[in-house]
Amino acid sequence: MPENLTPPTSKPQVPNFSSGPCAKRPGWSVSLLENACLGRSHRSEPGKAKLKEVIDLSKKILGIPADYHLGIVPASDTGAVEMALWSLLGKLPLDILAWENFGQEWVTDVADELQLADTRVFKAPYGSLPDFGQVDFSHDVVFLWNGTTSGVRVPNGDWIDSDRTGLTICDATSAVFAMDIPWDKIDVLTYSWQKVLGGEAQHGVIVLSPRAVERLETYQPPRPLPKLFRLTKKGKLNAGIFKGDTINTPSMLCAEDALDALKWAESVGGKSGLISRSEGNLAAMSQWVEKTAWVDFLAEKPETRSCTSICLKIVDGWFAGLSSEQQAECAKKVAKLLAKEEVAYDIASYRAAPPGLRIWGGATVETADLQALLPWLDWAYATVKREME
Ligand SMILES: Cc1ncc(COP(=O)(O)O)c(C=O)c1O
Repeated sequence: MPENLTPPTSKPQVPNFSSGPCAKRPGWSVSLLENACLGRSHRSEPGKAKLKEVIDLSKKILGIPADYHLGIVPASDTGAVEMALWSLLGKLPLDILAWENFGQEWVTDVADELQLADTRVFKAPYGSLPDFGQVDFSHDVVFLWNGTTSGVRVPNGDWIDSDRTGLTICDATSAVFAMDIPWDKIDVLTYSWQKVLGGEAQHGVIVLSPRAVERLETYQPPRPLPKLFRLTKKGKLNAGIFKGDTINTPSMLCAEDALDALKWAESVGGKSGLISRSEGNLAAMSQWVEKTAWVDFLAEKPETRSCTSICLKIVDGWFAGLSSEQQAECAKKVAKLLAKEEVAYDIASYRAAPPGLRIWGGATVETADLQALLPWLDWAYATVKREME
């Protein structure tokens, strides 16, 4: 039997490499939620105090400027993004950027649902970024910091105009806590807890700059807004939302879990600690990709390679000769085999992305686990190839 058909001997201790919900933080156990404010009103003193603690700690760890607002909102990242789009857009022309599935979802929202007339869409195929040089910052601009389904990230904020008159609205759900966000370039940013923090899903987080607040307080969008989307009250920012007085009832169990994740984040060095854990995972993966002939990053340019949703394509000559159905089947079989061996769960590429693998490298993933996975990838690919040949 050729050497690469012999299974490796050691396995990752934690085989959770899903891109969301992501691995819980090292050392997590359900008993850590014992102090959750359960069976009480979320508007009780201890309930509100917990929510406020989540808000304050999130702002501290992310280095959010004091004059920005951070609030917990319903319906996860999608809720936070759509609340922003529905509440803010329509005053100015819009430039929207999309280079993978989720960016495309927001294009669908603005084109088909909001039907915003004055919109320019800049698209790029999986693996690359649109031409940022074409963006007009006198327009509102909607973009992702990290394309979760292509593993292509914005390398930095240099392309964003500091003197913009439009708002920048950024879905950063798979970036924040693992990538450095230049807050002065961002007017609205959204995320959820189940990505880099390894928290529980359900709530979204929205961050607003003073300019975003000004827009909310001076612009009445020409559409009905459901209660779930309303960030203002009588023309003024609903400040309570940003102190823990949520729009509707949150899960205090999820909030407690977020609090635990944030405290863990502090214990590993806060934002810079989290970033270096995630970049360390990308570095380990890069070393392996460099010496591995059958695989490459889906992201074409090294500076755009995500350190969270690490997307790989198969570049083997045999694979290139397969039909697209066979390619999809091959990638799925590799992922399935690794799950069966209990070395990696949920690493098939996103259903709308080119066939390949997507391995989460966010801060809750231990580099040792990722390193233990790498020889298994070689083994699984060789095994599936042999079976399909
Ligand atoms: C970039 C991006 N936006 C939005 C979503 C949807 O997030 P949620 O399920 O938290 O609403 C995801 C989920 O993976 C994502 O990666």
